[in-house]
Amino acid sequence: MKALILVGGFGTRLRPLTLSFPKPLVDFANKPMILHQIEALKAVGVTEVVLAINYQPEVMLNFLKDFEAKLGIKITCSQETEPLGTAGPLALARDKLIDDSGEPFFVLNSDVISEYPLKEMIEFHKTHGGEASIMVTKVDEPSKYGVVVMEETSGKVEKFVEKPKLFVGNKINAGIYLLNPSVLDRIELRPTSIEKEVFPKIASEKKLYAMVLPGFWMDIGQPRDYISGLRLYLDSLKKKSSSKLASGTHIVGNVIVDDTAKIGEGCLIGPDVAIGPGCIVEAGVRLSRCTVMRGARIKKHACISSSIIGWHSTVGQWARVENMTILGEDVHVCDEVYSNGGVVLPHKEIKSSILKPEIVM
Ligand code: GDD
Ligand code: MG
Repeated sequence: MKALILVGGFGTRLRPLTLSFPKPLVDFANKPMILHQIEALKAVGVTEVVLAINYQPEVMLNFLKDFEAKLGIKITCSQETEPLGTAGPLALARDKLIDDSGEPFFVLNSDVISEYPLKEMIEFHKTHGGEASIMVTKVDEPSKYGVVVMEETSGKVEKFVEKPKLFVGNKINAGIYLLNPSVLDRIELRPTSIEKEVFPKIASEKKLYAMVLPGFWMDIGQPRDYISGLRLYLDSLKKKSSSKLASGTHIVGNVIVDDTAKIGEGCLIGPDVAIGPGCIVEAGVRLSRCTVMRGARIKKHACISSSIIGWHSTVGQWARVENMTILGEDVHVCDEVYSNGGVVLPHKEIKSSILKPEIVM
């Protein structure tokens, strides 16, 4: 089986992290977002993943080369010369997606995190006999997404409305599709949207089916959702394999700590924290609801909550970092500084406190 991951877009909503790496390579729960997806695809028998890219393919491919061998999966790129939207890239990659088997293929948005119930999706697809399957999930704010109105029992989609202005329903497109090769005959090679042009058409012919995604789901393309997504992810990890979570008297709730990270004496860590490879957390540090990315150093008695600390950054002694502070790569927060929601661009030094949420250039 094959799969295509849509990895275009500039990830502006996840700046400053995406100033250093393309969004799919930003770490989530101690590994690049896209690896969560590639591993899930591999687990259901996908042998080749096509990355639909519209900029910086070298960065992505160099990075993934290692994983190709480790995971035993073929990863190729299909590069657009102009952004082709969410459907055009499928037409461009047509030859890579179709083979003699006539099997359906997966298409994934690159910024969603879930338990990827792909096995269940394959079963669902086989039983309904339609042309395309999509996963849906319930959310509180459906207007940010593609809304799906479906027949409850069969899953047949009656209506697909992308980013509706008026309330249509609260089940939304989760960005995970399984499509028959015939769907490719519906897509022209031009910038086009699968949500606005392709799905509504298939739905009108009654060949689009939706399955309610079991478990959690989050689009982690914005800082607040990224932090909520980590809480949901760790909660699900606890249910599936709690041995992957850190334990000890210094841990509260769900926490993951990479084996190569060092934690000092007298820290209190959690809930909902991820500490990445090579991080150093010195004595007496307090961390909650935050991500500390690869190579970062948190000095003595610093306190961090609801924030993201980018790769190789440092947070000084007695510093306090909170309220959706996002430090880009290699940022240095000096001792005793306070950050209330500062969004700090890569390679900056913060010498004085940031008292209200603002971007620090
Ligand atoms: N290759 C390529 N080229 N990829 C693209 C392009 C492009 O021109 N434009 C967007 N993408 C990729 C993005 O990188 C992302 O993985 C995916 O397509 C969806 O784009 P987003 O920009 O993240 O869309 P969204 O979050 O506003 O809405 C989409 O996702 C929602 C779920 O998170 C839609 O699919 C909605 O219907 C859906 O509910
Ligand atoms: Mg998105």
